[in-house]
Amino acid sequence: MAGVKLIHHVNVQISDRARTRDWYEKVLGAEFLDRGPLNQRQLQLRIGTGEMHFTETPEAVCTGHFAVEVDDWDQMLLNLDKLGVAYSRSAGAVDAPPRTSEDTQYQGRREDNGEHYTYVHDPDGNMIELVYHPLGLMDSAGNPVALADNTKRLRWKQKDGVARSA
Ligand SMILES: [Fe+2]
Repeated sequence: MAGVKLIHHVNVQISDRARTRDWYEKVLGAEFLDRGPLNQRQLQLRIGTGEMHFTETPEAVCTGHFAVEVDDWDQMLLNLDKLGVAYSRSAGAVDAPPRTSEDTQYQGRREDNGEHYTYVHDPDGNMIELVYHPLGLMDSAGNPVALADNTKRLRWKQKDGVARSA
């Protein structure tokens, strides 16, 4: 049976491309992807090993949320504090009761895998869950699976001699 290797990109609606690019660069360390003519119709950013594509529309509609795995939890929260980005353990619910002894109003822990999580909103209100799994990733045989730890300038390979495309 055919399967999926990874999520290539997520597309969300935004109302101001420059504001969105600035926020994602500062908050999530996103990298602008210069896709030539495609830049006219979409903002495309690399976030970790995946991509996010942003469609500009005057009345951006936010639906659900998506989650990103962060590489350093404490540094991420320090950066949010520095930038004045609010974060909360409750995904929109006010005063959700703590489920573990380590839960606070700002962040939560899952007891089974140690996952850390919290939620932020981008300037248009798109909700983003930040997660961190300190125990790492493993395959079906229990072997550790490494993640790319250097995503700077990560690109899908291009055929030699072919002009850059999406
Ligand atoms: Fe979630």
